[in-house]
Order: sequence, then C-alpha cells, then structure tokens
Amino acid sequence: ALRGVVALDGPSGTGKTTVARTLADRLSAGYLDTGAMYRVVTLAVLRAGVDPAAADAVAEVAARISYEIGTDPSAPRMLLDGEEVSALIRGPEITHAVSPVSAVPKVREFLVAEQRRIIEGVLGTVGGVVVEGRDIGTVVTPDAPLKVFLTASAEIRAARRSAQDSAAGRQSTVDDARASVDRRDKLDSSRIASPLRAAEDAVEVDTSELSIDQVIVALSELACRRG
Ligand code: C5P
Repeated sequence: ALRGVVALDGPSGTGKTTVARTLADRLSAGYLDTGAMYRVVTLAVLRAGVDPAAADAVAEVAARISYEIGTDPSAPRMLLDGEEVSALIRGPEITHAVSPVSAVPKVREFLVAEQRRIIEGVLGTVGGVVVEGRDIGTVVTPDAPLKVFLTASAEIRAARRSAQDSAAGRQSTVDDARASVDRRDKLDSSRIASPLRAAEDAVEVDTSELSIDQVIVALSELACRRG
C-alpha cells in the first residue's frame, strides 16, 4: 500500500483523473480531486448569479458555501450544501467559468488550506493519498515524495476530452474540445496565483503514446521506489 502523498499535476486531457483514481485504487490509497473543489465553488458562483471575473464577490461565495469532497477513489462524492453535484460540476458552463474562479487568490488560499486538511486526514487514516490538480507539487504539498507532471500533445488531449464528453452524453467535436482545452490551459498557466507548472523535482511523463495502463504501471513503480 502507498504511504504518503503522490502529487499528480498537469493540464486537462492528459488522463490525470483516470490515472489518479486507478492508481489510488490499486495502491489502497485515498484520492483527492482538487479540480472538483474549484468546480464546486464555480457551481456555487454561477448559481449565486455572480460574475466569475468579480474577484471579491467570488471569494465571498467561496467563504460561505458548505461542501464535502469524497476521497474514495472508486466513488468520489461531491456535495454542495448537501446536494450531490459530482455530475453537474463536469458540465460545459462550469468548465468554461472555472479558470477565472480558480485564478482568484483568496479562493486558492481558502481551498489550499482545505486541501491540506483533507490530505492530513486521509494520511492519518488510510496512510496514502493520490492528489491531482495543477499546483499540488508546487504549492499544496511541495514535500511530497513523488511528484508527477503528466503531459500530452494538444491533438491527443483534445481527442481524449472529446471522447470523454461524448461518453458523458455531452455533444462536442474534436475542434470544440481543442478550443476549450487550449483556452483553459492558457488561463491556468498564465495566472499570477500559483499557475500550472511542473515542480522542479517532478517526473514528467508524456502520455501521448501511452495507454492508461502503461501510465499506471510506470507510476506504480515510481511510487513503490519513492513512497
Ligand atoms: O482538473 P479539472 O479539469 O477538473 O480542473 C478544473 C479547473 O480547476 C482547472 O482548469 C483549473 O482552473 C482549476 N484547478 C486549479 N488548481 C488545481 C486544480 C484545478 O486551479 N489544483
């Protein structure tokens, strides 16, 4: 079983979520999807009729909502004010608005503190946790024994995102997916507050030519060596 934290960062469409959940499951570890937390806040912001670009109002929403983020890799439940929202937070409106919301420094401060608290809790009970996001290796747990940065070519990321959308019953062409993935990565990489980037000591894995299984085998080996 995994001991400690595996920090898994990278842009969208690299297979991060599938890899993180499967890895956590196989290593009998917990799983924390930090992107889901930014998505839950974004859902609350949109429901409150607040402009995602209005930093102060967005921070206020983030401070007043109550949410619960599951850490079971086989069925991570997300509750917003008691309502199950796991499917809802993957919708296109949320995906479109999440980058401006996550660029608000107060929102990040808030969620990073929450993430550290959840991680401590899982470490204290299960002993190991796979954490996925954009700033896990750089900001949330810079001391993680294993940091991985997943990448993939723009074509592959768009194709994966589009397949994911179709599987979830959302209509999208590869061109739409590419535009959406590119836009979000630009916003996430160029923001001032903890932008998307690899930690200096992260292992970079290009998943373009690898199956999910190959990525998981590679990461399991790394985790066993370093964990
Ligand atoms: O991983 P996912 O695509 O669900 O993340 C949604 C968004 O949340 C990202 O595009 C990014 O804006 C934000 N995010 C972040 N920091 C993290 C995880 C996600 O800013 N650690």
